[in-house]
Amino acid sequence: MRYCWLFIGLISSCVFAEQPKPQRQQELLNMLKHDCGSCHGLPPKGGLGPSLMPDALADKSDALLIDAIQNGRAGTAMPPWKNFLNIDETNWLIQRLRQN
Ligand code: HEC
Repeated sequence: MRYCWLFIGLISSCVFAEQPKPQRQQELLNMLKHDCGSCHGLPPKGGLGPSLMPDALADKSDALLIDAIQNGRAGTAMPPWKNFLNIDETNWLIQRLRQN
């Protein structure tokens, strides 16, 4: 029985590994508002930076967007965020942006 729980624990930690914890999700959403919003707008319809609304992202791959957020875009105002966001968090933010 004990092994059974262990097994369930292992599976669930694999399945949910990519989801930031609820408190971290809140921090990420705040960051989206305050940090990203200053350039991309709130809602992020575009400003100094381009729109990050679902229709604007629809034809862009996750890989392209993750790269833009992690590494920034050299020669533009888009700064790199890799010191603040890991890949899972970046990916989670992109999926959020794709949804609303
Ligand atoms: C100082 C202004 C600024 C801030 C702050 C900023 N961005 Fe940007 N961002 C830009 C600009 C300008 C571009 C366009 C770069 C280019 O011309 O390729 C951009 C591009 C992007 C792209 C690529 C969009 C595309 O269509 O290729 C994504 C995704 C993005 N930003 C997400 C974010 C997120 C998420 C944050 C907050 C964590 C953020 N940005 C914060 C200015 C900013």
